Amino acid sequence: MRVEGILSLFACLSLVTAARPATTSPATSSPTTSSPATSSPATTSSPSVTESPTSVTTSGTGTSSPTSAPATNTSATGVVPTTSAATATLPTGSLSPTVLPTPTLVPAPLGGVGLNETPVFQPLSDYDVQSIQLDLHQSLLELNLLQFGLTQFNTSDFTQANLTEEDVFLLQYMVEQDAAHVQLVQGILSPNITQPCNYTFPVFADVRGFLDFAQKITRIGESGTAGWINHLDSQASASYILSALLVEARQQMALRQMEGLFPMPYYFVPSITQSMHWSLIAPFIATCPPENPTVNWTVFPPLTILNDPFWPDLPLDNTSGPSISANRSSVSFPGRELNLSWVAPGQPIGSNSSFNTTSNASTPQFVAWISEVNITYTSLNNVTGTNGTAIQPEALVFSNLSAPLTNLSAPVGNLSLPLNLSAPLFNETVFIALTDAAIYVTPYNLSQLEPHIFAGPAIYQAG
Ligand SMILES: *[C@@H]1O[C@H](CO)[C@@H](O)[C@H](O)[C@H]1NC(C)=O
Ligand SMILES: *[C@@H]1O[C@H](CO)[C@@H](O)[C@H](O)[C@H]1NC(C)=O
Ligand SMILES: *[C@@H]1O[C@H](CO)[C@@H](O)[C@H](O)[C@H]1NC(C)=O
Ligand SMILES: *[C@@H]1O[C@H](CO)[C@@H](O)[C@H](O)[C@H]1NC(C)=O
Ligand SMILES: *[C@@H]1O[C@H](CO)[C@@H](O)[C@H](O)[C@H]1NC(C)=O
Ligand SMILES: *[C@@H]1O[C@H](CO)[C@@H](O)[C@H](O)[C@H]1NC(C)=O
Ligand SMILES: *[C@@H]1O[C@H](CO)[C@@H](O)[C@H](O)[C@H]1NC(C)=O
Ligand SMILES: *[C@@H]1O[C@H](CO)[C@@H](O)[C@H](O)[C@H]1NC(C)=O
Ligand SMILES: *[C@@H]1O[C@H](CO)[C@@H](O)[C@H](O)[C@H]1NC(C)=O
Ligand SMILES: *[C@@H]1O[C@H](CO)[C@@H](O)[C@H](O)[C@H]1NC(C)=O
Ligand SMILES: *[C@@H]1O[C@H](CO)[C@@H](O)[C@H](O)[C@H]1NC(C)=O
Ligand SMILES: *[C@@H]1O[C@H](CO)[C@@H](O)[C@H](O)[C@H]1NC(C)=O
Repeated sequence: MRVEGILSLFACLSLVTAARPATTSPATSSPTTSSPATSSPATTSSPSVTESPTSVTTSGTGTSSPTSAPATNTSATGVVPTTSAATATLPTGSLSPTVLPTPTLVPAPLGGVGLNETPVFQPLSDYDVQSIQLDLHQSLLELNLLQFGLTQFNTSDFTQANLTEEDVFLLQYMVEQDAAHVQLVQGILSPNITQPCNYTFPVFADVRGFLDFAQKITRIGESGTAGWINHLDSQASASYILSALLVEARQQMALRQMEGLFPMPYYFVPSITQSMHWSLIAPFIATCPPENPTVNWTVFPPLTILNDPFWPDLPLDNTSGPSISANRSSVSFPGRELNLSWVAPGQPIGSNSSFNTTSNASTPQFVAWISEVNITYTSLNNVTGTNGTAIQPEALVFSNLSAPLTNLSAPVGNLSLPLNLSAPLFNETVFIALTDAAIYVTPYNLSQLEPHIFAGPAIYQAG
């Protein structure tokens, strides 16, 4: 497909039709939900791992035996024998640990959690189970999405996006990484594991539209997992999940680079809660095996940003091909008015419509902007029914530089470092939600905002 079409991906990632050139404006493109029953290859991809034409091995996608848990025996010692240079080429060079650990005799500062216990790589609470199941849903969704994109687009489509075979191989490798993450997380949850579902994706006009959607989905998972990983009762499980999360973050950045965007225009990655995370991905899950464990997170009513910046608005000049770094000019700015639209609670959503959107909040009055390590609020304006507006506020990540940070700008040797740490608070992926109160929360206690959420979050692609 040609690249000129205006592909409008609404901010809440609701399903949209990619308009062909000259047919419709983004505001009028109507949602398209592809029924899995049609099994049209253009709109729905099956979780079958054999479907990829790329011959990437994705074994472990829902087919891993519950007994293949990585947690059962390999990690009690935490010791992984390193392969010496001499034996590095010999596949038989590694040794299995044979000695159980004893409390360390090496002097160490007092404190720390979980240092002197045998790690248990299993959920230790309902909170753990539900958080890690959410992670598994996310990993399965990403796995399917990448396979779907690789299936849908051929070599000349990728060439048109100035992507090479090497780039396509990177995407194929990401499929393997996601399959490995699925395997790891299924191991932690064994035997109660979520199996792959059928998913509904937007119709991608071109490779770039697919990449943009994929970077957003990956970021949702990244911010979602960052939001709960420090709250898990099973910190041992968190240590494995963190290792996967770090790879997901690299995927998100690489996808942006392939899209021609600045790879990471932020100082900090924002966190969101599980229910915010689930609200953002549940609409893409069409049907699931009935045996799948229940997901008990809330789905908040969807919020849509009708004028979310998107390519070809982003980058505005269309000159940005894939690159390691492309310093794009701003596509958003303080004072920009966002047109918002939301849906009243009680709408069926998610796999087999098995969830109803819910909210405990009263009349929405504020817009919460979740960005970097900050949660800031503006008023919700011009409310007409379920439409309203909000103005992107003017703020810096660090509004008040403290002495140690200011000192960073001191010259180092002959180099004068151009540090001013004055980045605007809103760039890249910002999550916005409608609330009935402006509650002071931080990334660590963000769940306390949940009773006040009327709708959202939506993704505001500020850069
Ligand atoms: C690649 O797919 C596009 C549609 O996405 C089609 O127009 C084109 O003919 C295909 N090219 C080849 C070489 O198969
Ligand atoms: C960017 O591409 C779009 C879609 O092809 C086109 O409408 C727009 O005029 C282009 N902008 C520039 C600055 O060339
Ligand atoms: C996916 O959709 C196909 C076609 O409708 C259906 O046969 C299959 O059972 C679905 N799988 C799941 C996991 O829902
Ligand atoms: C761990 O368990 C797996 C599967 O039960 C087994 O194949 C493997 O040999 C075990 N490894 C160690 C180090 O005991
Ligand atoms: C999840 O919700 C289901 C259905 O409402 C309920 O039966 C189950 O006990 C809940 N599980 C947890 C862990 O809260
Ligand atoms: C699996 O789920 C069932 C039903 O919720 C529960 O009774 C059982 O304890 C769970 N098993 C594990 C290992 O978590
Ligand atoms: C794509 O590659 C061609 C050929 O190298 C180059 O002329 C063109 O500027 C590139 N386009 C973008 C958007 O990078
Ligand atoms: C976002 O970051 C990019 C890259 O540093 C920068 O060019 C752009 O101006 C920033 N946008 C905003 C709104 O600050
Ligand atoms: C959703 O709400 C409808 C109408 O109130 C109700 O009939 C249905 O049982 C609810 N579904 C779920 C999954 O709670
Ligand atoms: C929306 O509200 C803002 C702030 O009250 C106001 O400045 C603006 O003119 C309003 N816009 C419209 C379209 O009414
Ligand atoms: C809300 O906005 C949508 C999209 O612009 C429009 O179709 C609808 O008529 C608006 N509703 C109201 C009550 O203004
Ligand atoms: C954002 O949070 C940081 C860390 O708490 C704080 O120093 C900064 O002032 C906040 N920025 C704004 C604009 O509130």
